[in-house]
Amino acid sequence: SRKQMETRIMEIKQQLGEKLFIPGHHYQKDEVIQFADASGDSLQLAQICASNEKAEHIVFCGVHFMAETADILTTDRQKVYLPDMRAGCSMADMANIFQTDRAWAALAEMFGDTIVPLTYVNSTAAIKAFVGKNGGATVTSSNAHSMVKWAFTQKERILFLPDQHLGRNTAYDIGIPLEQMAIWDPIHDKLVFEGAIEDVKVILWKGHCSVHENFTVKNIAYVRENYPDMRIIVHPECSREVVALSDDSGSTKYIIDAIENAAPDSKWAIGTEMNLVNRLIQHHPDKQIISLNPSMCPCLTMNRIDLPHLLWSLESIVSEEEVNVIKVDEETAKDAIKALERMLERA
Ligand code: 13P
Ligand code: SF4
Repeated sequence: SRKQMETRIMEIKQQLGEKLFIPGHHYQKDEVIQFADASGDSLQLAQICASNEKAEHIVFCGVHFMAETADILTTDRQKVYLPDMRAGCSMADMANIFQTDRAWAALAEMFGDTIVPLTYVNSTAAIKAFVGKNGGATVTSSNAHSMVKWAFTQKERILFLPDQHLGRNTAYDIGIPLEQMAIWDPIHDKLVFEGAIEDVKVILWKGHCSVHENFTVKNIAYVRENYPDMRIIVHPECSREVVALSDDSGSTKYIIDAIENAAPDSKWAIGTEMNLVNRLIQHHPDKQIISLNPSMCPCLTMNRIDLPHLLWSLESIVSEEEVNVIKVDEETAKDAIKALERMLERA
């Protein structure tokens, strides 16, 4: 039963003490997040893992790319586990290294050595390594603005992987006009751009988050009509149109802070993942909070981490079977860390 599983998880946590560390992303289920030693957005979790030297076992409650990042940023002595290997990220899957190598070669023919690559942390370790090798950095939704500005101090142009929306919204905010943004289509190996090629400043990889793409202009129109005094706040993984029509946008942490600091009785429609929106609703009974999309928008892969998987992963540590260990090979890690460090130095 649920109660028995919870009791056993508590026992194992006590037994392993500081040898065990459980980071949990804000999009995780309540049943899981209640056991997290630290919860945060992807930047906070990367920083927390980088500074943790005590834990031998890091059971990452989040998705695969986050566990890979944790492995890269921790010592060889520390093992990182993902309670369910099927907890991937559809956005990270939209850029593989073979497509990226092809894109890079084609873009070099068009633009010479004028491009610096940036990748959202929501990407595979291999993509991070590619970026690290080519002088670029990782970004998260919390530091995308400063990282894009930094990238322009390095080269004239940027290639932004794999989320076109975070790339477009961020570049737009720092003053790059939409007309200077092109899209790289990795399925057809093609650059899509209307104007003169020398005007391209930002090349957006054609990837997206299948959760945040579900917040639409129609959802905004519905809220405006039915709740005229409600503020709309969305994650920058939402489309440009949705961000432009909202009152505010920002990373997971930004959204949480905005709600925490909001006046009692204030009204909010939030465009981000369901578990987080539900938690904000629970924690702020004094505020009226709804999801911007009435179907709530869960992240299916985040939700694959549940109580049975967490317990199974912990039991495997106790019995020394150690299942689902995430290990990035040394060669990849060595380059990926360059990209991560260029970000962490500035974060
Ligand atoms: P942040 O935690 O950086 O806001 O990212 C959101 C997300 O989609 C994580 O997968
Ligand atoms: Fe990936 Fe989107 Fe889920 Fe985050 S919310 S893990 S970006 S699919």
